[in-house]
Amino acid sequence: MFARGCRYVVLLVAVALPSPAPPSLRAAADHAGMLIGAAVRPAQLSEAAYAATLAREFNMVEPENALKWEVVHPEPQSFDFSQADQIVDFAFEHGMKVRGHTLVWHQQNPKWLTEGKFTSAELAAILERHIKTVVGHYRGKIFAWDVVNEAFDELHPGDLRSTIWRDQPGIAIAASSEPRASNNLARSELEARSSKPHSAERGYAYMERCFHWAHEADPQALLFYNEAEAEVVNPKSDAILAMVRDFRQRGVPVDGVGFQMHIANLRADVTSISANIARFTALGMQVHITEMDVALPVDANGNARPEDLQRQADIYRQIAEACLAHRGCTAIQTWGFTDKYSWIGSHSKHTQGAALLFDRDYRAKPAYLALKNTLAAR
Ligand code: G3I
Repeated sequence: MFARGCRYVVLLVAVALPSPAPPSLRAAADHAGMLIGAAVRPAQLSEAAYAATLAREFNMVEPENALKWEVVHPEPQSFDFSQADQIVDFAFEHGMKVRGHTLVWHQQNPKWLTEGKFTSAELAAILERHIKTVVGHYRGKIFAWDVVNEAFDELHPGDLRSTIWRDQPGIAIAASSEPRASNNLARSELEARSSKPHSAERGYAYMERCFHWAHEADPQALLFYNEAEAEVVNPKSDAILAMVRDFRQRGVPVDGVGFQMHIANLRADVTSISANIARFTALGMQVHITEMDVALPVDANGNARPEDLQRQADIYRQIAEACLAHRGCTAIQTWGFTDKYSWIGSHSKHTQGAALLFDRDYRAKPAYLALKNTLAAR
């Protein structure tokens, strides 16, 4: 009789007591079936606290700069994988996934390329070789790539940015001979769809070729289009939606979209972010939050106000909830993880900072607890 009674007590206690908090962000993410990532700087991997925190708390890493052209392809005939290899080796040692960033961008390109005065045909051959060499080197090691980054113009939302790859001189030979349709995609999308079958006029033909080249180099890798300031429903995300919908319909190998999520001024329209994630995942696209940070005003010592740290935690929680609400949103990645190493400081002349989950001494911040508990609650 006692035995049966005691079983009930144990059961009751088990039911009553909340399940223990997961020991780490990584454990919470694994529990939620989510990827939790951080942008990494190889030079810091030799710092014990950096390496230990990274391996304990994250199940995915992404080179912050080590896979960009100026680092990985510094001279026309030479590729330097040494920095990115360090990150990939670290990841494999700790059972972590690796995301690649980025194959086609208008920034951080080496002088030999930007001042090379190449023809479209020469530039197309150079880019094809770059994509196939870099993706080929990490075939089976890097599971997802930001193939193209920030091709839309934040100054003219919805329009394509003028870049070396698009029209300076650009790689899409075909496009250059055609009369140019207006390059505001959202507006021209319907025009072009009705009048002209293929994509040259839509100005993004060059991106199409990049996705095909990356797919040929590693058919297993997931291929993403990555963008800034397209997290909410706006003309830029409208244009991206039109582009990826068109790509999917015409068999261009694009698997997902990366929303960078650099949150400024403690303002995040979470309702619009959630609606935006919903419409992209409804297309069958994966959504990755790829570069999240929430910059705060800081004093001369880089310290933020406690009330701002709490507001920051709320934003990390709310955006994680918006992601978890949509099955197709499969990864949350922060752009760095400790306030000790973040682009925000130098970028804001040190007026902003404290944007990440751990402080400069690798102590967990309220944002860390908010994100961990949100993932644990799934
Ligand atoms: O490597 C050189 C080093 O040799 C030199 O001594 C030093 C001093 O000038 O510069 C170093 O290069 C810096 C590079 O980061 C590596 O640390 C560049 O000056 C600096 O501009 C570059 O900043 C990177 C920035 O992209 C470039 O646009 C940031 O670290 C990186 O966080 C940032 O990341 C971008 C994403 O790729 C795309 N989305 C926005 C995000 C933030 O801008």
